Amino acid sequence: MDSTTAATARLTPEDLALIAQAAHRAPSLHNTQPWRFRARLDGLEIHEDTDRALPVVDPFGRDRLISCGTAAYNAAIAIGHLGWTPQLALCPDPGNPRLLATVTCGPRRRPDAEGEQLYEAIPHRRTHRRVFLPTAVDDDRLEELRGAVAAHGAWLHVVDARRRDRLADLLWRAAREQAESREFRREIGRWLRETGEGVDGVPVASLGKAPYPVDGLVTHDLPLRRDAEDWIAEELTHSTVLVLFTLGDDPLDWLRAGMALEHLLLRATLDGLVASFADQPLQQTRLRPELAAFLDEPGHPQAIIRIGRPMVTVPPTPRRPLDQVFMN
Ligand SMILES: Cc1cc2nc3c(=O)[nH]c(=O)nc-3n(C[C@H](O)[C@H](O)[C@H](O)COP(=O)(O)O)c2cc1C
Repeated sequence: MDSTTAATARLTPEDLALIAQAAHRAPSLHNTQPWRFRARLDGLEIHEDTDRALPVVDPFGRDRLISCGTAAYNAAIAIGHLGWTPQLALCPDPGNPRLLATVTCGPRRRPDAEGEQLYEAIPHRRTHRRVFLPTAVDDDRLEELRGAVAAHGAWLHVVDARRRDRLADLLWRAAREQAESREFRREIGRWLRETGEGVDGVPVASLGKAPYPVDGLVTHDLPLRRDAEDWIAEELTHSTVLVLFTLGDDPLDWLRAGMALEHLLLRATLDGLVASFADQPLQQTRLRPELAAFLDEPGHPQAIIRIGRPMVTVPPTPRRPLDQVFMN
């Protein structure tokens, strides 16, 4: 049979569960899982769940939409795994802005090797807030990651040694501002889970142990050390720091940034790399444009990611049961 023969998909409940499961394993801001799914005969709708918003950390919902973009990407990869060409429509209904994406089955096709690898990587991808081995990520791997984000119209800025100190300064200022804001810390506190029994949020055991949050979350008072910036700059040398950029900065760009981000993270996982987020400067309205300016980039920074080789593996974070995520 021609592998691209058109056929109308009627997905089984098992197929739909597989697609939803893949989408649900996506990373999200503080593991808020800010999505709801509606099943269709031929795929999945992904709706934004504003009840799971973080209005202080993410006042414009930018990270929420990036998170939903990561889920949409995984759903598309899962549809490819089932032997269909994934078809994606972002913000398809102007009358229903909460419907962020429909991910449906196009013509039949044989799963391709690259797609299968990305699908296999989904359960193995984790945010790594632990120590990185001090080995640089080689140029070939970086090229692959650049290719992954370019497929979604985004690009990467690899922060060089010259600009690392400037980034350390920005990270320190952002972390200080967050630590000094009671509203900020209260909101973060609501998504921290002391025990491993939750179904969402960030387990405390998943956080790093570093005195300054070059990654991870600002959850407490920061020690006021004069050498803080040096410490952060030194820590940054243990990983490769990437900033994901998009040309525009509206909800569609945020969704596409999420797809680019998840593509990058799955590609990195396949290469034995791990990633963490150092997003604090992007969560401060004033500091975000400063970052774009000193990196001399024309677009808008959407994520600051550290990638490298892990010293240890970290456990998976929990997710809500799927039946809580489906809409009627
Ligand atoms: C848009 C976005 C922003 C994030 N921002 C941060 C962050 O500022 N600090 C952090 O430690 N993790 C951040 N994360 C990682 C999430 O906390 C993580 O994805 C979530 O806890 C689920 O864990 P997992 O990635 O291991 O599956 C972010 C993830 C996304 C998708």
